[in-house]
Amino acid sequence: MIDLRSDTVTRPSAGMLAAMAAAEVGDEQEREDPTVNELQRRAAELVGQEAAVFLPTATMANQIALRVHTRPGSQLVAEEHTHIAIFEAGGPAVHSGLIAHRLPGVAGRITPEQIRRAAETADWLQPVGIVVLEQTHRSAGGRVWPLAELARTVAAAHELGVPVHLDGARLMNASVASGVPAAEYGRLADTVTLCFSKGLGCPLGAILAGPAETIEAAFRLKFLFGGALRQAGVVAAAMLYALDHNVERLAEDHARARRLAEGLASAGLPVDVAATETNFVGLDVGSIGLDVGEAKERIAERGVKVGRLRPGVLRLATHLDVDDDDVEQALDAITQALGVHVAA
Ligand SMILES: Cc1ncc(COP(=O)(O)O)c(C=O)c1O
Repeated sequence: MIDLRSDTVTRPSAGMLAAMAAAEVGDEQEREDPTVNELQRRAAELVGQEAAVFLPTATMANQIALRVHTRPGSQLVAEEHTHIAIFEAGGPAVHSGLIAHRLPGVAGRITPEQIRRAAETADWLQPVGIVVLEQTHRSAGGRVWPLAELARTVAAAHELGVPVHLDGARLMNASVASGVPAAEYGRLADTVTLCFSKGLGCPLGAILAGPAETIEAAFRLKFLFGGALRQAGVVAAAMLYALDHNVERLAEDHARARRLAEGLASAGLPVDVAATETNFVGLDVGSIGLDVGEAKERIAERGVKVGRLRPGVLRLATHLDVDDDDVEQALDAITQALGVHVAA
């Protein structure tokens, strides 16, 4: 089976497992794990922030960020398909008592004007507590915010005195695709999530980065959320390994996604090649009258697993465990599975 459901399906490589086995560890809750401490130092620098805290998942990093910045009863402003708003089990309401204020976006991006308008509808009783932006934007198909546009939207929030959290789960994909250092994007925001269990190929692990004082508050919340670990250096070692070995190679995932998109489009399938900026391909089966579940099944029968990007649209994600041959095989399998609809 070729698994294109998500970039989270990778298994740790032999080199990563060796790094994990060799990790120097200590009690993370006592801040005595040297590998975790080193990871936090390097990750903060990477995303242009002063400090970082290691967390098991990007979801926990996002949720702690919301809690650290906001008061219950305030509004979370975000593009309507933002991960934090639709895929985190209602966490913003449950953990932080936030009211979701979701805005329509283009390629997952919202404008300064939309932020200003959202703030106009708020008052002191339920003020805008936080703006969340996503880089790359998952549901838009791994689209990249151009740096200047991100800076303008962040500035609009800051002019209103509202903090900005950047869900940079796939920030390194954005950086590799655009050639803009991750720190240039990251330093714009008040806090940044970076996930290591996606394109970076770790079995788990994320960081939340920000100013030292904010990260100190986040460290306390890590206990509250049940994410304070013990000898977590075994995971941090995988994450350090990923920073050394798995960042630049994201360009290969992007090239393979591009090849998939072009191949499918030239076979007449509904794929927006120009929107394939990183490691996701969106295949709009709804537009050819197919239901996502049925399309997934037909493709799986030919040996390829695909996921769902958004309603009506399949996700084909490239990652560490997909090579050039897999891409060619997947192209054949998908065009054959859906071919009859192309002709129709
Ligand atoms: C943009 C984005 N943010 C956060 C997450 C959450 O990551 P995790 O499932 O590792 O907590 C995901 C997961 O797919 C994601 O796509």
